[in-house]
Amino acid sequence: MLKLKNVTKVFLKNTPDEVTALSNVSLTVKEGDFITIIGSNGAGKTTLLKAIMGFCSIDSGSIELMGKDITRTPPHQRAKYMGRIAQDPGASVCAVMTIEENLAMAALRGRRRGLRIAVNSRNRAYFKEILRRLELGLEDRLSTRVGTLSGGQRQALALLMATLAKPKLLLLDEHIASLDPKTAEQVMQLTNDLVTKERLTTLMVTHNMKEAIRWGERLIMMHEGRIILDISGEEKRCLEVGDLTEKFHKVCEQEFAVDRMLLSV
Ligand SMILES: Nc1ncnc2c1ncn2[C@@H]1O[C@H](COP(=O)(O)OP(=O)(O)OP(=O)(O)O)[C@@H](O)[C@H]1O
Ligand SMILES: [Mg+2]
Repeated sequence: MLKLKNVTKVFLKNTPDEVTALSNVSLTVKEGDFITIIGSNGAGKTTLLKAIMGFCSIDSGSIELMGKDITRTPPHQRAKYMGRIAQDPGASVCAVMTIEENLAMAALRGRRRGLRIAVNSRNRAYFKEILRRLELGLEDRLSTRVGTLSGGQRQALALLMATLAKPKLLLLDEHIASLDPKTAEQVMQLTNDLVTKERLTTLMVTHNMKEAIRWGERLIMMHEGRIILDISGEEKRCLEVGDLTEKFHKVCEQEFAVDRMLLSV
C-alpha cells in the first residue's frame, strides 16, 4: 500500500554542511503491516517519515500510496490518509484548544472543518470513553486547554487523535520517548491495541532496541540514510538485542557505536 522507490534527500546541498539524510531508500509496506524503525541519531528516521507525509520534498525517487503516485502531492492532501505523532512532544496537538476540540478536529481529518458542528453530546460521550482507556484521568477534563497538560498526557492524547479517523497509514516518531516508564508502557500498550485491533498500517520509529523487537511484525534498521536491515516473520519473532548488534556489525563492518540505542536497552 506504500511504496518508496530510490528515495534520496540531501539537506544543504552544495554547501560544506551538505548531508544525505536519505540515500536511495526503497521500501514496500503491505496493508496492515506494523513496522518498527530503529537507528542511531541522524540515521534518517524522522526524514523518512517527513518524506512520506510530504513535509520535506525529496531530491529523487518516488513515493506511491495505495497505487497512486504522491511524490508531488502537497502535505495537506496526504494528511487525510495519514495519522502521525511528531518526535517533538506537543507538536501533534493544539495547545490553545481544549481536549475535546483537539479530538473533534482530529475526527474531521480530511473533511471540512467546523468545530461547533464537531463537538456535540454524542461524540463527547465517545471522547470520554476513549480517554478513559488511557487511564490518565483525562475523561473528566474535556474542557481543559491542552497547553496545561503534561508532556506525557499530550503524547497520549496525540495518539488518540492520530488514530481517531482510522488513517490508512499511522506514522509514529518516538512517540513514547519523552514519557516516564509507566506512562510509556501504558501508551505503548494502547498503541499496540489500536494498531492490531484496527489493523492500521503503522511505521513506528523508536530508539529503543528492546521496544523495536517487542512490537510489530517487521523491524527496519537505518544507518546513515540507508535501510541496512529488514527483518520479519520467524526471524523477527526470535530476535534478541545481541542478534541486532551482531547483524549491524556484519553489514556495516564497524562496531556498534554507544548511543541512545544501546544506552536505553
Ligand atoms: N531541516 C534540516 N536541515 C538540515 N539538515 C537536516 C534537516 N533535517 C534533518 N537534517 C539532517 O539529516 C540527518 C537525518 O536527520 P533525521 O532527523 O532524519 O535523523 P533521525 O534518524 O530522526 O535522528 P534522531 O534519532 O536524532 O531523531 C541528520 O544528519 C540531520 O542533521
Ligand atoms: Mg528523529
